Amino acid sequence: MTTTTARPTAATGAAPLAISGARVAFRDGPDERVVLDGLDLRVEPGELVVISGESGAGKSTLLTVAGLLRRPDAGEVTIAGTAASGLSDRARTALRGEHIAFVYQSANLLPSLTAIEQLELVGHIRRERMSEVRERARGLLEDLDLADRAGQLPSELSGGERQRVGIARALMASPSVLIADEPTASLDPARARSVSDLLADAAHRRGIATLVVAHDQAPLRVADRHLHLESGLVHDVALSVGESVDVMAQG
Ligand SMILES: Nc1ncnc2c1ncn2[C@@H]1O[C@H](COP(=O)(O)OP(=O)(O)OP(=O)(O)O)[C@@H](O)[C@H]1O
Ligand SMILES: [Mg+2]
Repeated sequence: MTTTTARPTAATGAAPLAISGARVAFRDGPDERVVLDGLDLRVEPGELVVISGESGAGKSTLLTVAGLLRRPDAGEVTIAGTAASGLSDRARTALRGEHIAFVYQSANLLPSLTAIEQLELVGHIRRERMSEVRERARGLLEDLDLADRAGQLPSELSGGERQRVGIARALMASPSVLIADEPTASLDPARARSVSDLLADAAHRRGIATLVVAHDQAPLRVADRHLHLESGLVHDVALSVGESVDVMAQG
């Protein structure tokens, strides 16, 4: 695995996401529970990395560190060449807003907004021009095969459609890094496959460094790299179907 420097690497091809030496520990009564133990991870533009691991291994913790939602106790997270550790909370939030988007297990859509309004809201928050926002939202819904669902409320969409709207909303922010925590866990196998295909397509076509935590098989089928999180570190897993199945069966 490639390790990264803690300093911005400027024009020398900084990865969208690079983590080096990340340590996170939680108090556990009188003891300390080390969840990330000097973890290194680098995700390249257009690369889809899938992380597996047992429940409690620290996968969600890793994603919150990668997404600048939690400061690691030690180590560095570098987003598009900017090292986050030295930044103020405000500057970290700005760096996150500019580069990182999230997709969760349930799409977390706002119940009173239609599909297209969920996307438009992202553009409004980012103070983009109204006409551009609408055009881009329509384009994304079309890309994700949701054009005919644009006017539906979340309660009128299927689980898979809601999840696709959640992905479209994440793409509205034109992120360089996309982080997804079990995006297919609540879906049946066919919908899980279609949502995974969408994530891979978005990563590859838009050049987004995509980091997905998954327990289920669907995201592994489209992964460029499979890492297993264990004892606070990630380990490369060969992407042959047989080996992936073995690892997933343990988790
Ligand atoms: N805020 C916190 N305070 C204390 N302990 C925490 C906190 N957040 C997570 N932990 C602990 O850290 C460990 C890793 O949690 P995490 O949520 O990252 O696991 P996970 O791999 O995502 O598990 P799952 O597959 O069940 O979602 C767990 O033992 C959890 O109890
Ligand atoms: Mg988790």
